[in-house]
Amino acid sequence: MEVTRTVAEARKACDAARSAGRSVGFVPTMGAFHEGHLSLIRRSLGERDTVAVSIFVNPLQFGPGEDLARYPRDEDRDLATAEELGVDLVFAPSVDEMYPGGEPEVTVDPGPLGDRLEGASRPGHFRGVATVVAKLFHVIGPSRSYFGEKDAQQLAVIRRMVLDLAYPVEVVGCPIVREPGGLAMSSRNAYLTPEQRDAAGCLFLALSEAAQMTRSGERDGAKLVAAMAREIGATSQARLDYAAVVDEEAFQEVRVITRPARAVVAARFGATRLIDNLLLPMP
Ligand code: PAJ
Repeated sequence: MEVTRTVAEARKACDAARSAGRSVGFVPTMGAFHEGHLSLIRRSLGERDTVAVSIFVNPLQFGPGEDLARYPRDEDRDLATAEELGVDLVFAPSVDEMYPGGEPEVTVDPGPLGDRLEGASRPGHFRGVATVVAKLFHVIGPSRSYFGEKDAQQLAVIRRMVLDLAYPVEVVGCPIVREPGGLAMSSRNAYLTPEQRDAAGCLFLALSEAAQMTRSGERDGAKLVAAMAREIGATSQARLDYAAVVDEEAFQEVRVITRPARAVVAARFGATRLIDNLLLPMP
């Protein structure tokens, strides 16, 4: 496995793979691997000849007062895991290498999708995500790139960016990997106290309740939202940020469910903010 710290080296390695006729798959991450990350890497390994993984905690997508400084980092363990899985290339640049001109002035505008829900709670977040993913696509040049449905709005932003800016990349969405109790795996789960971890189960409970309601014929988005908010609101240690039922492409709130919609939730457990979502079965 090759580990590169510079754009030039990463580009050279990926150019060489493509010149040898190998297809390149790419999994962008911020490291601190858990099973969610590994599922993306395994999928990529099964579908592409050469697999590149990036590990970069992107300051551009963190707001002031967010957890950039304490974001979990464990590069040695991540590199060992990547090697064991059979990853070909890890690109792990420094902040200066990624942003040599300091904070970038030219960025990718994620459009109105970037202002809704997660974007409303975290202003500038999706601009930071879109900008770094655009840049990583330029460096790696993958034919397929893998993203988790865990961050469903991020996945929608990347799909839209690829469509609007004609990136020659096929974006592959991968299912959410959950703990046995239903909690979606996340690097941020490491921040939770045991009590908060218990409480965080309310996110999947709320989503499951909404799914159960649609299965029983409920089509009214507002009723589903109210049920989810009630479930999370009734959990001590949980502070609801938002609950919504949205369409897959634009993340606009759905009043009446007539085609597959996604239930999305965000809540705080102490200082830790978690998100989760579930595709709702059709009534
Ligand atoms: P990070 O949070 O490290 O996640 C990397 C990838 O893993 C994302 O596509 C995310 O959706 C996926 N992922 C996280 N938890 C998952 C789970 N439980 N099941 C399935 N997939 C999961 O998302 C980012 O990094 C960054 O925003 C990034 C795209 C790398 C840009 O900086």
